[in-house]
Amino acid sequence: MSDPTPLNLETLKKEAALRAVELVQSGDRVGLGTGSTAKYAIEEIGRRLKSGELTGIVGVSTSEASEKLAREVGIPTETLDPRPLDIAIDGADEIAPNLDLVKGLGGALVREKVTEVQARRLIIIADHTKIVGTLGEKAPLPIEILKFGFLSTIERLRDFLPGGRLRQPGAQPYETDNGNYIYDAQLPRDFNPVELERRIKGTLGVVDTGFFLGMAERAFVAAPDGVRELT
Ligand code: 5RP
Repeated sequence: MSDPTPLNLETLKKEAALRAVELVQSGDRVGLGTGSTAKYAIEEIGRRLKSGELTGIVGVSTSEASEKLAREVGIPTETLDPRPLDIAIDGADEIAPNLDLVKGLGGALVREKVTEVQARRLIIIADHTKIVGTLGEKAPLPIEILKFGFLSTIERLRDFLPGGRLRQPGAQPYETDNGNYIYDAQLPRDFNPVELERRIKGTLGVVDTGFFLGMAERAFVAAPDGVRELT
């Protein structure tokens, strides 16, 4: 298999996205994911709306960036309300064999989870580098935490998740669309995701985690030899 250079990874991301968009039907309310793979799905939905292949689509964006892109490509959007979404399409940072996910390296984990939990179908799109045997193999677990008292929250998290760090790409910590910070936790070797999720979410100051457990219906994973559908 050739090296996953940025160029061919972009081709693969787009291939996965196009497969997922085939599942979108006219009249659907669609959760619009965030990130460099979800971007291709949003663009394709916009293209299909313009060409008339799709009609009556309403998007619900999972980030300010996706909302901006949706507007640019002509997808009408609404904010999230209690009605279910017909489908949501999003990327992931890690995909386990049972379709449990780690998400949030793009920083939109909370809005993604709040939106996608309402989707009848959550479809994940990715290139093959996102496949792991066990969550935590390649990526940290993003944990969104309140800005207020963040150092204390990090201390509490470090009690059982040492080795993580506050996301800080520059002089200031990274700030989410919700005005919060992110602690990127290194996952231990052996853990039960459901129990760990419960423990993290029970930690004062935590908003939510990038674990998406039991949420995805299927994933389209593109590799140089084709797109695989995982269910
Ligand atoms: C953003 C996310 C993204 O879906 C995830 O980071 C994957 O992004 P990309 O497609 O750019 O690799 O969870 O919060």
